[in-house]
Amino acid sequence: MRLIVRMLLAVVCTTGLLASSATTAQAVKPKPYCVKYKCIALTFDDGPWPYTPELLDTLKKYKAKATFFVLGRKVANRPEMMQRMVKEGHEVGNHTWDHPSLTELSDEDIVAEITSTQEVIYETIGRYPTMMRPPNGATNERVGERMAELGLPQILWTGSTLDWQARNQKIIKQRTLKLAKRNGVILLHDIVPETVKAMPAVLKTLKAKGYKFVTVSTLLGDRKLAAGEIWPPRPKKK
Ligand code: NI
Repeated sequence: MRLIVRMLLAVVCTTGLLASSATTAQAVKPKPYCVKYKCIALTFDDGPWPYTPELLDTLKKYKAKATFFVLGRKVANRPEMMQRMVKEGHEVGNHTWDHPSLTELSDEDIVAEITSTQEVIYETIGRYPTMMRPPNGATNERVGERMAELGLPQILWTGSTLDWQARNQKIIKQRTLKLAKRNGVILLHDIVPETVKAMPAVLKTLKAKGYKFVTVSTLLGDRKLAAGEIWPPRPKKK
C-alpha cells in the first residue's frame, strides 16, 4: 500500500515538474516593458529648435526617453540635434515639413508635406520615421487615407498641456503632472522655452511616483498600429 502511495506521489511530482517546465518555456518571451512598468510617453513637437539640447540634457539626467515629432524644414537646419536625439535613444516622428493643417490641403500637398519630411529625416539620421502626428491634431478620413498609403499611423495624445499658450513654467509643470497617467501620451513642445525649463521638476516628480519615461514605440509594445490608424483613439464626442 505504502509503495503504491509512493508511486502515485512520484507520478504527481513528475507531472508537476513537466507542467512547470512548460510554463518556464512559455515565459521565455518577455512581457512588453510597459506591461511590467508604469510607463508614460512624453512627446515634444515642432522642433528641433535651439532649446532642444537643454531638453536632451534633462532627459539624459533622468534616463528618460521621449518622442520628438519634428518639422522637416527645421530638421534640415539642425542635423546635429537630430543625430544626438537618435544616439541618446529617443524616437523621431514626422510632423510635416511646414506645420499646415493637413485637412485644408489637397491630396497632393498632404503627400508632399509628409514625404519631403520622411526624406530629410532619412538623410539626416539614416532611418525613416514609422509614425506621424498631424499638425494641430487636424485629421479626417481623407488625411487618414493618405497616411494609410504612406504606411504611417497617426499619433495623437491622451493629454495636451497647451504649453504654447500658457508660456509659464509653473503652469506647464502643474498641467503636465495633472495629465500624467499610466500609458499616457503627453503633448508638449520643445520650441517653448518654459516647457524645457519645467521639465527637470516634472521628471523628478513623476520619477518619484514610479513612472518610466518611454518612447511611443516602447509604450505600444507588442501592439502594431495599422497604417493610417489614429492612436491613442480619440474619446467619443458626446
Ligand atoms: Ni505641432
